[in-house]
Amino acid sequence: MKLEWRAFALRVIEAQGVSHPRRAHAHRSGWNSEQHGVHVPAIRLDGKLLAQTIRGEIAARVAERVADGKHAPGLAAILVGDNPASRVYVRNKRKACEEAGIRSWLFPLAANVSQRDLLNLIAELNANPEVHGILVQLPLPPHLDEKAVIDAVDPTIDVDCFHPENVGLLAAGYPRFYPCTPHGCLQMLRRTGVETAGKEVVVVGRSNIVGKPLAMMLVLKRTEMNPMGGDATVTLAHSQTKNLAEVCRRAEILIAAVGVPGLITAGMVRPGAVVLDVGMNTLDGKLVGDVHPGVAEVADSLSPVPGGVGPMTIAMLLENTLRAAEMLDG
Ligand code: GUN
Repeated sequence: MKLEWRAFALRVIEAQGVSHPRRAHAHRSGWNSEQHGVHVPAIRLDGKLLAQTIRGEIAARVAERVADGKHAPGLAAILVGDNPASRVYVRNKRKACEEAGIRSWLFPLAANVSQRDLLNLIAELNANPEVHGILVQLPLPPHLDEKAVIDAVDPTIDVDCFHPENVGLLAAGYPRFYPCTPHGCLQMLRRTGVETAGKEVVVVGRSNIVGKPLAMMLVLKRTEMNPMGGDATVTLAHSQTKNLAEVCRRAEILIAAVGVPGLITAGMVRPGAVVLDVGMNTLDGKLVGDVHPGVAEVADSLSPVPGGVGPMTIAMLLENTLRAAEMLDG
């Protein structure tokens, strides 16, 4: 399976005109492009293409389920206010659902919706047997209590994996769901043949959505019950980390999830590292990541923004919605 994916990645790389065999040879022989003053541009980790494949796999499982006479999975998305980025994310999530045969409903709420009305809607959706997943797009307007909202979602249909019960299960090594963006990162590594076990991994950013759960997944022991456990040696760096550049340079795999455009520069990256860019920042009207483009001259491989981790996150949301439906089947 892994070899199959490595072959897939190589096909992607070849299609992009990057001479991967040369890179592979350089790695095998311990040849270091930095020392020799030769820069081979980083391999582009094409999340869009990988996500398309995963979404195809999910669509096939959904079709099989429906052919067996079961309900199609259903996702309810709650969007509060008119944050333009959130609107785009929710639209993309719903479109991906529909393409995979997953039903989706949008509940757009006014920016000034009351906490009580929002909690009432969540309670109604929790009780609806056609709803197998609830997603409350974050961030919420400041007058709403985000923690109370997350706590209100039934943990068995908490497809974001934000509910404390699900965070606790993940931390204990018995995950009900994997959180979408961390899972997207790990699938991207796994499916392009990048092993995490025993590796030095540095995650920059300690958010509840990405950094913290990602560090947790990377450090978890890989077991039958927990197939995405990373078995890695993990450093979780953040805004108070001293000597961030030095810490980052230790990483064989470096993952940036801070929300600061171009924070990670070439000098902070160990030559030959695999770099994932989880940043989604708007700069001069353009979507850019946390990783400076110059890192492509140093890294072995790099996930782009857009078209990297973002599409993988959506694919993992579909996976969780299907998984929730399967678990509710009994
Ligand atoms: N806001 C940014 N990322 C996410 C996500 O993965 N899920 C939700 N619900 N909100 C987000």
